[in-house]
Amino acid sequence: MTNGSTIIEPFKRLRRLRMTDAFRSMVRETELSVKDFIYPLFVVPGTNVKHEIGSMPGVYHFSIDQLVRECADVYALGIPAVILFGIPEHKDEVGSEAYAPDGIVQRAVRAIKKEVPKLIVVTDVCLCEYTSHGHCGIVRGEEIVNDESIALLAKEALSHAEAGADLIAPSDMFDGRIGAIRSILDANSFQNVPIMSYAAKYASGFYGPFREAADSTPAFGDRRSHQMDPANSDEALREVEQDILEGADIVMVKPALSYLDIIRRVKDRFAMPTAAYNVSGEYSMIKAAGRNGWIDEPRVMMEVLVSMKRAGADIILTYFAKDAAKLLKNI
Ligand code: PBG
Repeated sequence: MTNGSTIIEPFKRLRRLRMTDAFRSMVRETELSVKDFIYPLFVVPGTNVKHEIGSMPGVYHFSIDQLVRECADVYALGIPAVILFGIPEHKDEVGSEAYAPDGIVQRAVRAIKKEVPKLIVVTDVCLCEYTSHGHCGIVRGEEIVNDESIALLAKEALSHAEAGADLIAPSDMFDGRIGAIRSILDANSFQNVPIMSYAAKYASGFYGPFREAADSTPAFGDRRSHQMDPANSDEALREVEQDILEGADIVMVKPALSYLDIIRRVKDRFAMPTAAYNVSGEYSMIKAAGRNGWIDEPRVMMEVLVSMKRAGADIILTYFAKDAAKLLKNI
């Protein structure tokens, strides 16, 4: 009692367990681990190339020789997996280099598996980096056609498996592609090569920096006829369900940060191994603000990554993987 007014002492004090580091860590619900990460890498033709991508500080184009060295570093940090994106020598209407046995990704996979055999090598399966028009499939007039495109994607997936890819990750969002890829892999004795589908992939402005990195900006139009409308949530569940029915082993939500609600719904509904793609724009925004001194970059990076895990992601594809691994290991 002071001055006639009553101070009500709270009986319940949620702050008790926040008072010390020891208590905070004892009751922490979500823990990030380096084992959660898949590190995206861009491979280009040539030798001795390590060229920083302007819109993505700290991310590089690597020629295969340099890529292998990078993979050894990544593995030494405890990061279990990389996902490869290839930028070919030549592009054409049908993205021929995407499924050429000696294409850039196929050669890169062989080189990595030879030198760093225990690193999981994931390959992104799409045509957009390989087509002259920058679309993810075959174009007829204004239409990006579905069925002919998935036949080529299946061919691409098979060529990746033949090169030794450990996990196949189709990122196109055409209908029926998971089934087509599962069938061709099974028919060629790759029953044990799993598929991580970009199952709920949105038509997002957050891919901007990636399109510079992968040189895959569409020459006309956009990707809204196959990627999802950012306004939709139930539809994401239908997409994910379909991919599971067709044989997806891991399902991915992409982008991550503006879609944490989708990650949570997918995890709750299907209880599948669930991946989140912390995409290029999400990375570049934090890097840019950090460089300007507007935010504490390492702190925001960890906050963003843990939010994805808290939302239900088991796996996080992130350009921050190396930075976060170093922070987690205090190096
Ligand atoms: C398509 C693909 C894209 C990304 C991964 N795979 C780009 C797109 O759909 O336009 C984006 C990744 C990122 O922004 O980090 N091959």
